[in-house]
Amino acid sequence: MNLPQNRTRLFEILAGLLATQLIVFGLGFYMLNEPVRIAESQTQLQLTQLDDAMTLYAQNCSVCHGLSGEGISAIPPLNNPALQTMAYDDLTKTIARGRFNTAMPAWSREDGGALSDYQISELVGLVQAGDWNATRDRVVNLGLAPLVPFTTEPDPVLLAEVANLPDGAILQTAITIFAANCVACHGADGLGTGIAPALNDPAVREKTADELTRTVTFGNAGTLMAGWSNALTPEEINAMVTLVLRWDEVPAGILPAPNVPIPTTEESIALGGQLFSQNCSRCHGPEGQGTQRAPALNVKAFLTDTSDIAIQQIVTNGVPGTAMPVWGDRMTEAEIQAIVGFIRQWEANAPEVAVPAKGGGGGPPWMRNNTNTTTQQSTGQGTTSTQGQGQGQGQGQGQGQGQGQAQSLLASFDWRILLLIFGALSISFTLIFMGFESLRRRPKKNPTEQ
Ligand code: HEC
Ligand code: HEC
Ligand code: HEC
Repeated sequence: MNLPQNRTRLFEILAGLLATQLIVFGLGFYMLNEPVRIAESQTQLQLTQLDDAMTLYAQNCSVCHGLSGEGISAIPPLNNPALQTMAYDDLTKTIARGRFNTAMPAWSREDGGALSDYQISELVGLVQAGDWNATRDRVVNLGLAPLVPFTTEPDPVLLAEVANLPDGAILQTAITIFAANCVACHGADGLGTGIAPALNDPAVREKTADELTRTVTFGNAGTLMAGWSNALTPEEINAMVTLVLRWDEVPAGILPAPNVPIPTTEESIALGGQLFSQNCSRCHGPEGQGTQRAPALNVKAFLTDTSDIAIQQIVTNGVPGTAMPVWGDRMTEAEIQAIVGFIRQWEANAPEVAVPAKGGGGGPPWMRNNTNTTTQQSTGQGTTSTQGQGQGQGQGQGQGQGQGQAQSLLASFDWRILLLIFGALSISFTLIFMGFESLRRRPKKNPTEQ
């Protein structure tokens, strides 16, 4: 009777020791692992912040500082080593408050800008440690590539005609200044772009000269419209206002769109190809070779004569009075630019004469499902795509933001700890149960022994 009982005791003691060891070991392991986990989640946070910053840069800064922080004409680069070593506070101040009397606007909400302090700190991180190649891809994928060069040449024949209008010389001055300073944002012929409103517009002509003079002189805080009092004389600013008020008298085509190729990325071309086969191939043929319904796009003559911006305008506005639909109301600018990039790829091998596809049906059946397939491809393109690319980006950087955050939570949680705790708990429960068992038996045994 004594022997088995002693054995149970021994077992209980051993099991207790084991459980204690497990718990101590588990805790020790957890504590040792903690710095690693903290470091990991900090890196993850940094990657998420850089990822945010690239989108902020694309939306707010690329128009002036360039596709990949290289600067545009007089506007300084941000991929500048001097900025990487600039004091954190000075850099923050520059972005938050802007540079007084230059085109660099203030960005902090406190100073009338559009960005929170957190967003500004993310941008400082980008300027000091960002990946400008990945940033370039982000800007392109979001369809926010700036027009470079920033300027255009007024059409000389039309500019000469303007001299015959009343105060023609003033208008000529204004048109020349507009071509050099305003066209990149306000667009060819002042028709507007994705980043700035049309100035050649009846609604703008209804404003007073005073209102317009104030905007051009001081800018509009919190928007890309900077004050020009530093760069233009009061007479020149008056000339700009005259132009805006009398734009209906100015001949169309006097400020042509600069012929700038639309930049592409692997993702944008893939997206363009997909959108083309969903929306365009049934009329223009699967390889752009044309059908009975619509002309070929994949021919030398068309591609060499037509600039990217012109193709973008045709696709955006359609061809009125023909079967060529308006796409601007169904697709984002980024999507239309992706299609233009895809079409432009054909140029190198385009035939002199296209052989239209037969039947005008356009491609195999799976390519004909045309019903508004575009809307699925929302503008989030840039944030969902840039993964991998073999460009040596950090892993989290190109991932979708939401996805990235979920993954960082999962990655930072160590499942082994759960296993340890679970194991220790089940052993403790077994012990407690065994303890109760032996207490329950003892009173029965004692009387028989006496
Ligand atoms: C409307 C054009 C414009 C926009 C938009 C713009 N900047 Fe600037 N930025 C400028 C100009 C012009 C300067 C040079 C100012 C000067 O002469 O000191 C400048 C200067 C800077 C500098 C200082 C560079 C240096 O070498 O000292 C930083 C940093 C900067 N900008 C960051 C940004 C960030 C970040 C954004 C987006 C949130 C942005 N900028 C948007 C025009 C712009
Ligand atoms: C960096 C881009 C950018 C440049 C360059 C630029 N603008 Fe603007 N401009 C804007 C934006 C954005 C707005 C709209 C501001 C708002 O929403 O209040 C605007 C607004 C205006 C307005 C007011 C329009 C209205 O409906 O009230 C005028 C006038 C104007 N700009 C003139 C000019 C002139 C003249 C130049 C060249 C000397 C110029 N802009 C250069 C971005 C720009
Ligand atoms: C319903 C048929 C149809 C569809 C769908 C269509 N197009 Fe067209 N497209 C036409 C026709 C017809 C023309 C010729 C218009 C004309 O007579 O100038 C045309 C003309 C064009 C042109 C000018 C060609 C030139 O030689 O001047 C471009 C560029 C173009 N389409 C691009 C596209 C793109 C990109 C898509 C898809 C997003 C698309 N089209 C979808 C029918 C179509």
